[in-house]
Amino acid sequence: MIATRLISSSLALAGIAATAAEPTLKEVYKPHFHVGVALSTASLVGPEPDALALAADQFSSISPENALKWGPIHPERATYHFGPADAYVEFGERHGMWIVGHALVWHEQTPAWVFQSESGGEATRDELLALMRAHIQTVVGRYKGRVQAWDVVNEALNDDGTMRDTPWRRIIGDDFLEYAFRYAHEADPDAELYYNDYSMHLAAKRDGVVRLANQLKAAGCRIDGIGMQEHIAMHFPGFDEVEASIEAFAAAAGKVMITELDLDVLPRPDNIFDADISRRAEGNPALDPYRDGLPETVAAAQADRYARFFKLYVKHADVIDRVTFWGLDDGRSWHNGWPVRGRTAHSLLFDRQLAPKPAFHAVIQAAGAARP
Ligand code: XIL
Repeated sequence: MIATRLISSSLALAGIAATAAEPTLKEVYKPHFHVGVALSTASLVGPEPDALALAADQFSSISPENALKWGPIHPERATYHFGPADAYVEFGERHGMWIVGHALVWHEQTPAWVFQSESGGEATRDELLALMRAHIQTVVGRYKGRVQAWDVVNEALNDDGTMRDTPWRRIIGDDFLEYAFRYAHEADPDAELYYNDYSMHLAAKRDGVVRLANQLKAAGCRIDGIGMQEHIAMHFPGFDEVEASIEAFAAAAGKVMITELDLDVLPRPDNIFDADISRRAEGNPALDPYRDGLPETVAAAQADRYARFFKLYVKHADVIDRVTFWGLDDGRSWHNGWPVRGRTAHSLLFDRQLAPKPAFHAVIQAAGAARP
């Protein structure tokens, strides 16, 4: 039946009417929350019609995997590169999707010049704040009323809940987040604004995020919710710790979004259990066990774990607004390159041929089973 749906997508692309087919992710989860997908720049600008057709068919929300990050969209002081971001927003509008912006202020994928003064040396607090404001006004302003929600600040905390040592914090101070949220609100008063981070199941980080949300609210900033990236694996995190974070974040900030879901089945080297893109490990064949395909038993275990997470999300659908996958299919997953370069990842619901995996069927089933 799924094959029918995929075939019907291509027929639809070719202008031929689609036949009746199995329900899609966006259909079965409609009573609960948006199901989103991160689109790669390659898919958007290629464009890659098969990938885009599948994305339009299955998902009701999109996130930009890279196109709206500072480096890609604002590579030099006087240069903005809007092409891929424009294509991203146009795609979402064409398909009536909930369009997310990711990410305005982050310490990664941000060029070094951002933190330098035009007159040489490190930027001053005032210079960096002025640049942050101009960047946010330009990017958020361009898509005002078209991008519905923004990850305003990404990954400002360490796993122990303390503030991360980044150039943003060193140069501006701990209040850099307040400015980012104020500037974003100023640029589009109707946009929803989120704080987003990884390893959100950890108790100390959970407490840190709650403190941060309370500080932002006390400072009078608009914050609509918390994004939990949810780059998970077979052996972490636990359901209870994820559930405790969902509840704590909803109480502190309103909405909760699962923003970057994927379920890595590959071995994790060097005790890398987070999603810190600056961390890298050397490869070896033992770390890349499924080069020739995912064994049935592993695919079944992955499907089961995905389904259990979706049942948890459905249980909390009153506060969860969106569950977004970080990539469309295994071939496009960032796990092919992180934390070890050149591996064969199997983290998502669709395989390299864009065919649904057991995990897809299990996630579809999980919506039905959980429906009232
Ligand atoms: C990743 C992208 O998927 C990669 O293509 C890129 O090379 C590095 O960043 N947390 C985030 C995402 O918030 O923006 C990161 O995306 C993955 C971890």
